[in-house]
Amino acid sequence: MEYSGKLVVFEGPDGAGKTTQVKLAAERLQKMGYSVVMTREPGGTRLSEEIRQLLLDPANREMSPVTEALLYAGARSQLVAEVILPALASGKIVLCDRFVDSSLAYQGFGRGLDLEMLRQVNRFALDRLGRFCTILLDLPPEEGLERGKKREKDRLEQEDISFHRRVWEGYHFLIKEYPERIRVVDASSQPEIVHQQVWKHLSAFINGSDQGGVF
Ligand SMILES: Nc1ncnc2c1ncn2[C@@H]1O[C@H](COP(=O)(O)OP(=O)(O)OP(=O)(O)O)[C@@H](O)[C@H]1O
Ligand SMILES: [Mg+2]
Repeated sequence: MEYSGKLVVFEGPDGAGKTTQVKLAAERLQKMGYSVVMTREPGGTRLSEEIRQLLLDPANREMSPVTEALLYAGARSQLVAEVILPALASGKIVLCDRFVDSSLAYQGFGRGLDLEMLRQVNRFALDRLGRFCTILLDLPPEEGLERGKKREKDRLEQEDISFHRRVWEGYHFLIKEYPERIRVVDASSQPEIVHQQVWKHLSAFINGSDQGGVF
């Protein structure tokens, strides 16, 4: 698809600092005069936020891994159609807190679902979306869970540490799978230091010196 906007996705384990970094990047871009859309997954539209409730509610213990994967893809499809593609078409910069790599890492590596199947379902969900940039905030899962300790855990966060280890290993597999698209940032330093690293990659993608890649 031809469009003038840019999609930058923030990924990483729970507590890696995604939400913090999306906000810092958005503020900086807005100060520079860019038109920025901030969104998150699962969610970002009315329907997708309803699906989010289903996905994250710890009471939904019986949800099968395939149902989980399809609900994520459904929420994503709605977000792409309703928010991301229209924003890109009008030249905006879209910053998304989690996206399709989360499905490969959590449902593929965490839950053990077939990666090729997940890719196909998600290609369907991504529709005409072209190149984008994924910034992977890299932090060992133990450290991320420690940071996020203060608030109540959602259904996926309640999984044991071996699940979160597999997710982290999944992200590292994806770095090799998508070298054009995924940029890794060490998320263990202070937020402002992490932001400088994020900015290096993000600004290269915005100014076109880094073309990003497709899913
Ligand atoms: N670089 C950092 N160093 C230390 N603490 C941080 C850093 N970045 C964020 N935090 C803190 O860690 C916690 C988790 O950060 P944040 O919510 O941004 O992570 P997240 O990746 O969005 O987490 P989640 O997956 O739970 O949504 C917050 O309390 C935040 O203030
Ligand atoms: Mg967050």
